[in-house]
Amino acid sequence: MTMAEKTHASGYVEPGDTSERVGVKSIEERGVDVEELREKLIDAIAAEFTTYYYYTNLRMHLAGEEDYKEITEDARLEDRAHFELAVPRVYELGGSIPRDIRDFADRASCPDAYLPEDPTPEAILETLLEAERCAIRTWSEVCDMTRGKDPRTYDMAARILQKEVEHEAWFIELLAKERDDEVVPAGHFVRGEPGDAPYSTNTNINESA
Ligand SMILES: [Fe+2]
Ligand SMILES: [Fe+2]
Repeated sequence: MTMAEKTHASGYVEPGDTSERVGVKSIEERGVDVEELREKLIDAIAAEFTTYYYYTNLRMHLAGEEDYKEITEDARLEDRAHFELAVPRVYELGGSIPRDIRDFADRASCPDAYLPEDPTPEAILETLLEAERCAIRTWSEVCDMTRGKDPRTYDMAARILQKEVEHEAWFIELLAKERDDEVVPAGHFVRGEPGDAPYSTNTNINESA
């Protein structure tokens, strides 16, 4: 192949230019509003990060309910993994996380998952369930913004969405049993280790592809 035939050897970005990114230009050309996407991503990972914090408190208050605690711990650690997975993407898209964690928490795309006033297992499980539902809505929206246009963000969002759908099923099962004594199976057993985060950790992202 002659140099003239190597059609991807050059393009919009000048050789050596570090002020522009082919990785950004290429998704813009395919119709992604990059600024909108990266701001949406910051809101989404702020929700993951704050949820990780709030779930710590919710999990602790499930004292004596070891099965509920274990499931909540998986969901908690997986939210941290979701934050870790997606934060580099914000920078690749030319954005950054806020300097002040208060600003970061305030822009989370989901409500604060506060410990309920009356922290019964039922009330805590309902809080957990609604937090998962917000996460499903959030990551579904990111999938919609990137499908067929931005494979890297789409892949991350889809991996995270897979987990959020599982989390919803877990908390439906637990809440239905706790509140209504009703059996609504999630089809789930335990993760290998707490925080395994299949599909969505930085370290094993290739293995779980
Ligand atoms: Fe999450
Ligand atoms: Fe979740």
